[in-house]
Amino acid sequence: MIKIAPSILSADFARLGEQVAEAESAGADYIHVDVMDGHFVPNLTIGPVVVQALRRVTRLPLDVHLMVEKPESMLESFVSAGADMLTVHVETCPHLHRTLQQIRGLGVRAGVSLNPSTPLVALEEILADVDLVLVMSVNPGFGGQSFIERSVGRIRRLRQMMIEQRVRAELSVDGGIHPETAEQVVRAGANVLVAGSFIFHDPEGIAAAIRRLRASAERALIARSV
Ligand code: DX5
Ligand code: ZN
Repeated sequence: MIKIAPSILSADFARLGEQVAEAESAGADYIHVDVMDGHFVPNLTIGPVVVQALRRVTRLPLDVHLMVEKPESMLESFVSAGADMLTVHVETCPHLHRTLQQIRGLGVRAGVSLNPSTPLVALEEILADVDLVLVMSVNPGFGGQSFIERSVGRIRRLRQMMIEQRVRAELSVDGGIHPETAEQVVRAGANVLVAGSFIFHDPEGIAAAIRRLRASAERALIARSV
């Protein structure tokens, strides 16, 4: 089954609780929380207090994407706030293995993400130690950007690496996801779709957008398995 992770970056922050509740009742699987520090990426967003507030309004796992320098200094505060998964960027972690161990040691799932320009080989030695790989299909920092087509081949190659290493981690894709790109990335081997603007800016509403995204992803999954 394909998992849908709405990214609240594109939600209406004045009505965040309501919108998250709507996503949950429409069958979202995770709530994706984009944490940006204004250094690693040129934007500033959410800290642990917002995660704490989200924890009170949803039972869905909180998938926290740390686009920050020195993420190791804030792992504990995000876990105490209620995060269920913490994803760090390979570009920010000189001691990636240690950081991932730290995350698991805090009792949550550990994810690793890479920017579009980072070679996949950066993951080769670490794949066995992660619960989730998050492939960026835009340059991180903002919602609403266009999907970078090269990502499809990267996802395909990454899925192959995971099969070869017998890794059962989730393969998530983040950036520019809508029904057409969802179809391409699922065919290439993704099983989690992060989507912000497509879900929260749909004139027909959050539930309709999630339904359309899921329908397209499930069709692609059937095509992948035949
Ligand atoms: C980008 C973030 C994404 C973003 C995706 O840096 O990591 O999660 O919200 O937004 P869309 O789906 O609008 O590309
Ligand atoms: Zn993200």
